[in-house]
Amino acid sequence: MKYEDVHQFASKFSNKESGVLAEIRRDTWVNVMYPQMLTNELQGNIMQQISLMKSPNRILEIGAFTGYSAVCMAKGLTEDGMIDSIEINQELESRLKKNLAMAELESRVNLHFGNAIDIIPNLEHNFDLIYMDADKSQYPQYLKLLYPKLNKNGILLVDNVLWGGKMLNISEHKDKESKGIAGFLSLAPEFKWTQYGIIPMADGLWMGVK
Ligand SMILES: C[S@@+](CC[C@H](N)C(=O)[O-])C[C@H]1O[C@@H](n2cnc3c(N)ncnc32)[C@H](O)[C@@H]1O
Repeated sequence: MKYEDVHQFASKFSNKESGVLAEIRRDTWVNVMYPQMLTNELQGNIMQQISLMKSPNRILEIGAFTGYSAVCMAKGLTEDGMIDSIEINQELESRLKKNLAMAELESRVNLHFGNAIDIIPNLEHNFDLIYMDADKSQYPQYLKLLYPKLNKNGILLVDNVLWGGKMLNISEHKDKESKGIAGFLSLAPEFKWTQYGIIPMADGLWMGVK
């Protein structure tokens, strides 16, 4: 069985992207640098299902990009629920706002522009669902800052834990992103989780329930 074939098969038998998500993906590929940073479609589907099962009141996202994953996670948000989303690249602001408005989420998402490391400690709330998807080299630091902000039974999702397969032979890879992800994977079990593990789809999604 080839990984790509399994993915294609799973896509065939999964919900298709909503019109809004498809438009964010199309617009990002046409107009934004590094469009491959978008959350994978199949993973977006799973994230919507996780959100629907959790019904979070407060969601936090580290790495907003063009808003795709925020729109996915909003799927199960409670009626008065809110998303906080952190993004370092201010140039994405107008496109991000346009995309959130298209998803009718402009009043449900607090955007914070700046370095996540500086912003996370100043967030007032704790969260039911957190998605970590920013600077891979800082994953261990993010984990240390985010764990206390996660509510009991809250869910932490961490993207790219396979890092294109590099994590399978980590001793061969010395780049700071690989080191950051490997650091996260060895640090995470030191925190208290009811359950944690890797969903081996797309570039690898780590999930832990506090
Ligand atoms: C992989 S993309 C996020 C993709 C997005 N979650 C989605 O589903 O489309 C990573 C994003 O994190 C942002 N980023 C990188 N370093 C950051 C930092 N230190 N603080 C906040 N955002 C950061 C990047 O500018 C980029 O937009």
